[in-house]
Amino acid sequence: MPSSILILNGPNLNLLGTRQPEVYGRTTLADIEVMCKTHAKQRGVRVEFTQSNHEGGLIDAIHAARATHSGIILNAGAYTHSSIALMDAISSVELPTIELHLSNIHAREDFRHQSYIARVAVGVICGFGAAGYTLAIDALLGHLERGS
Ligand code: DQA
Repeated sequence: MPSSILILNGPNLNLLGTRQPEVYGRTTLADIEVMCKTHAKQRGVRVEFTQSNHEGGLIDAIHAARATHSGIILNAGAYTHSSIALMDAISSVELPTIELHLSNIHAREDFRHQSYIARVAVGVICGFGAAGYTLAIDALLGHLERGS
């Protein structure tokens, strides 16, 4: 049974609640953190929940996860569509990673259809708003429990 997972949020997600609520909803990142911690507790797993607006900060958090966590849920924000460095960080630590987005990136602008993270992720959850975070916890735990 995995004891702990990292939920990592990228640029601009600290503004959830007020940032384009018609796209991202009115739930704040602090609300989502509470939802995740409550859900994870029910599932018997610990969660580290963090956010950075900086690519290097996200990479450092992924590297540090190797020592402490069994897997990663990553909403990399716009870095999803541009960051080979984040993709390489995930490949380097070899921790199972779920790519997550609040919005359905495939129903939006063409530049959001490309994801470097998806190339190295176990799977992708998008389009379910804040509820996607608890779906991602269940998806990651299922993957870890099955071992595949
Ligand atoms: C996002 C989708 C990205 O395209 C965007 O740049 C974000 C948020 C989402 O959660 O829907 O910052 O990752």
